Amino acid sequence: MNKILVLHGPNLNLLGQREVGVYGTLTLEQINDALEAFAGEHDILVETYQSNSEGDLVTKIQNAKGSWDALVINPAAYTHTSIAIRDALAAIDIPVVEVHLSNIYQREEFRHRSLTAPVAIGIISGFGVDSYLLGLRAAFNYLSR
Ligand code: DQA
Repeated sequence: MNKILVLHGPNLNLLGQREVGVYGTLTLEQINDALEAFAGEHDILVETYQSNSEGDLVTKIQNAKGSWDALVINPAAYTHTSIAIRDALAAIDIPVVEVHLSNIYQREEFRHRSLTAPVAIGIISGFGVDSYLLGLRAAFNYLSR
């Protein structure tokens, strides 16, 4: 069984109430339920974790080494700012898929640069909850190859 950790960055706990025109009406719990349902159908063990804190996310990423086969992460605003999260992702030697609900290239210029994308195997951006589901599938397919 493949073990895949899904990490959600800052402010994603507010999904469903936050800028619904951009991020949609689904809550984080509903997204996590959809991930669990997909995992159940594909013999994947999934754990989801959200934090508003950069340090928490760095520690969670560091601890993934040896415990998880792949990581799916929406670093949220830290995508554009966090060298610490990028370095943690680069350090763990497990495949990382970066996902975003919105299409970051369609938005403000400061969102066009991802510091974390270069250390991911790929990124999926712009498909709402499907970005997560496609990201989970991409990680699963990568591991199955
Ligand atoms: C986001 C895009 C980021 O620019 C933003 O800071 C977020 C969410 C997305 O999922 O579309 O918080 O990662």
